[in-house]
Parts: sequence; structure tokens; C-alpha cells
Amino acid sequence: MSPRLIEVAERFKIRHALPAARWPTAEEAARARWFQRARIGRLDVAERTWVPAMVPWRASADGVVTPEVLDWYARFAEGQPGVLVVEATGIRDIASGPLLRIGDDRFLPGLRRLVDTVRERSGGRTRLFIHGRLAAAAGDDAWLRAPEAALRRRLLDAAADRPLVEAALTSRQLEALDYGYRERVWDTHLPWIRDLPRTLPPLFAEAASRARAAGFDGVELHYAHAYTMASFLSRLNTRDDGYGGPREQRVRLPLEVLRTTRQRLGADYVVGVRYLGDEVVAGGSRIEDAAWFGVRFAETGADYLSISKGGRFEDARQPKVGEAVYPYTGRSGYECMPTVISDSRGPFGRNVPLAATIRRAVRDAGHATPVVTSGGIFSFEQAEEILARGEADFVAAARQTLADPDWFRKIRLGDGRLVRRCEFTNYCEGLDQHHKQVTCKLWDRVDLDAPGVRLTADGKRRLSAPPWQPPDGSR
Ligand SMILES: Cc1cc2nc3c(=O)[nH]c(=O)nc-3n(C[C@H](O)[C@H](O)[C@H](O)COP(=O)(O)O)c2cc1C
Ligand code: SF4
Repeated sequence: MSPRLIEVAERFKIRHALPAARWPTAEEAARARWFQRARIGRLDVAERTWVPAMVPWRASADGVVTPEVLDWYARFAEGQPGVLVVEATGIRDIASGPLLRIGDDRFLPGLRRLVDTVRERSGGRTRLFIHGRLAAAAGDDAWLRAPEAALRRRLLDAAADRPLVEAALTSRQLEALDYGYRERVWDTHLPWIRDLPRTLPPLFAEAASRARAAGFDGVELHYAHAYTMASFLSRLNTRDDGYGGPREQRVRLPLEVLRTTRQRLGADYVVGVRYLGDEVVAGGSRIEDAAWFGVRFAETGADYLSISKGGRFEDARQPKVGEAVYPYTGRSGYECMPTVISDSRGPFGRNVPLAATIRRAVRDAGHATPVVTSGGIFSFEQAEEILARGEADFVAAARQTLADPDWFRKIRLGDGRLVRRCEFTNYCEGLDQHHKQVTCKLWDRVDLDAPGVRLTADGKRRLSAPPWQPPDGSR
């Protein structure tokens, strides 16, 4: 096909069928790469299966662990993945709705309960990392300020005068009108933005030492998606104070945070980095930047690199007045959580080449830092092939594990035919978008009357997948 035809074909949306999956016997699974032990830094991990961070919107309004949060992680732990990463957790001590927080010691008792729950339910098999998020700028909460929403409504109501509005406003003002006001990390005229290089390293390091005090096996620095540190890494970052512009300067603060966190925690504690292999927005960082960043993170002592893609604000859909803009609505959002309605490449494993390129660059530079890939992982064979080809060291599955938290265990036991397969149509992501407790459409209406089932606030959905026992009950 000519490049032009390929380009035209790429624009057509195709509904992809779920590919057939062959499942291994228990013996084959026992020999499989995915189920072999591995090391992350100095930590021994039982297998190379991985559940990346997913926010379930289940913390209390002030960010404390609730029984619903414990259920969410307990259910994943029952499948005994090698690594389970706890949702994006706020490192500043400021309100952020029902999302977990770790910005003060008062959060520690709840987080300790979370660690204990995962240990107990996984039989001590699953390693638990916590994923520290920071939205100091370019963040989510700034979009919801009420007075501004009222003003936006009034101005947007004057739709007939749009040309007049466009002529009167600067492009930043127009963006604030259409999308809500948002700070950028390059708004250095704002004192708190200018000060980020000074304030952030100790903030991350303190949150990380709290994570260790709570008993987590490691911390994951969230340098991905729409968060502040991803914005520092972005090619769009034009700060002129030595922390923007060329990539050596864009990576400076992320490296300073990594170094400070490492110094605070010592060499024996796992500190990983999640970041973007490609921002997928016009003018943003691409794989060449990401491969280069990966080498810098590895040489600065990151214990692993978990590669994601997209999820930026820049191409997000315009939100309704009073709603927050959601960074997973545009093209970059699609690439972060791809669905079966896709281009000709389909959603399955489409981010793997990014991880493979970064891994190669890191290995060529002489580092053994493990690389984690995620995005459209749906089967045992797919994961095995990724590992066999040396494209990643750990293979992570978010939505497939939400669809069936027992799937790793089922495969290990030779019961792969019983895996409840994710349909990759993003009902769960829609709930996330509207800040509703996240569940999966494949199980959230099943056996609502069963004893002990915890339901959503409206009583319509169960919050956890129904329990599973192996058919012969003995394993
Ligand atoms: C409901 C939901 C919440 C998510 N929350 C986070 C998050 O807090 N931090 C993060 O880095 N990624 C988050 N993700 C992205 C996933 O970790 C993962 O990268 C993405 O879903 C693609 O993997 P998958 O195809 O296996 O689902 C979330 C995904 C979903 C579906
Ligand atoms: S809701 Fe849909 S996309 Fe989400 S985990 Fe369930 S089947 Fe997969």
C-alpha cells in the first residue's frame, strides 16, 4: 500500500474483534517467562506479571483509605500478580476529592492497613508499590474553580458573539474560556510555579519516606500523563530558568527529584519511574526524547522504567461548563487506553515498540534497569512473545486485570479457559472520567444480592468482582 493509502486507511475507524487466545497448561505456565522470578533493584519479585496504577475513586473525600479502597486492592492481590501498583496518590497535603493521599503522617494508618491487606490476600506473593502524583501545575483541581465556571457559562452562552470573543481574548484567555483555566509549568511569572524546582524534590522525598514507613515495597514517581513532571519533560516546556527548553534542561527537575528521593530512601529501596514513551500531542516529546530520558533515569538510579503513552491535556475534548477537563478524551488519551474502535493497527500491545526502543537504548548504555510495558495486553501468549523478543522485562495489564482479577492465577493453574476477557470498550474509563467508583461492566451487575457484597452509593453496581475458586477446590 502506498504511504498515502496507508494514511487514509489509518483515519478509518475499525471495530476490531477480540483476538483468539490460547491458554497454557499449568506445566507450560510454570516454565513460562511471564511467571519466572525477577529482580527490581534489590527486591526479589515472584513473577513478571504486573498491575499498573488505576484510580478507583474510592478514597474518602479527604484522601484516606476506606473499606472500598481495601476491597479494590484485596481483589487484585487475590490474583497474586508479581507487582501491584497503587493508584496515583497525592503527595501534597491538599484536597483532591476521593483520591488517595500521602502528603501527611495522618494518612499512614490507612496506608498500613492497605499494605497488610495486600500481603495477606496475596499470601505475601505480590510486591506493592505506590504511585506518587503531583498536580502542582497543569493539574486537575485548578479546572473546577466555581467562580470561573460561572464566568465561563456566561461567556459561552454568548455563542453568537464568538468572533467578537475571539478577537478580544488572547489565545491563553480563549483556552481558559473553552477548557477552564490551567496553569502551565512554564508560567514562571507565577511565584509558586517558578519555585517548583526548589519545592518539589523534598515533597516527593517526604512522600516516598512515608510510603516506606507504611510498608510499601517501593515507590513509583509519576512522570506520565497530565501531571506536573510529565509537563517538565515535555518538548512544550519553554521555561527559561534552566528547567525548560533543550531536553538536558527538561529532564533536570525529574532527575533532581529522583536523586533526592533516592538519597532519602537509600540504595536498597525500590524507586521506579513511570513516564511517557510518546506524548502524542503536537509539538510534544517523542520516542527519541523518551529513549534519551530512559538512559538518564537509569544512570541516576531508577530501579525500573514503566512506559505509558499519551494522556495529555493539550488535545483533550472541551469539557462541559463546571466539569473538569479529562486528559484521556483526545488522540493522546486514546493512545493511553486504546479501545477496539481503532485504526488498522488495533489496540493490542500498540505501546510495546516504545518500551522496546527505550529498553534497547538503556541496554546499549550498559544498564540492566527493567522496563515495564502496558497498553492492550490481553493474553498469555502475547505477554510471552513480548518477553521472548526482549521488548520488555515485565508485562503489565490494567483493564484485563480489572475485568478478571484472578486471571494471572487462572493461567498459572492451567485454567486460562476460565479467564473473563476484557472487551476493551472502556466503560471503566467512562466511570473514571465522571469521577464515579470504577467497576467493570462484565461483573458489576452480577449476584448483587449475594451476602457481603458491597455496592456503589446508588446500590446499582457491586464494587468487586465475584470471588473465584479453582474448579477442583484444591489448589
Ligand atoms: C480506570 C483507570 C484508571 C487509571 N488510572 C491510572 C493512574 O492513576 N495512573 C496511571 O499512570 N495510569 C492509570 N491508568 C492507565 C493504566 O495504568 C494503563 O496504562 C492503561 O489502562 C493501558 O493499559 P491496559 O490496556 O492494560 O488497560 C488508568 C487506567 C484505567 C482504565
Ligand atoms: S469495563 Fe470494559 S474495558 Fe473496562 S475492564 Fe471491563 S471489559 Fe475491560
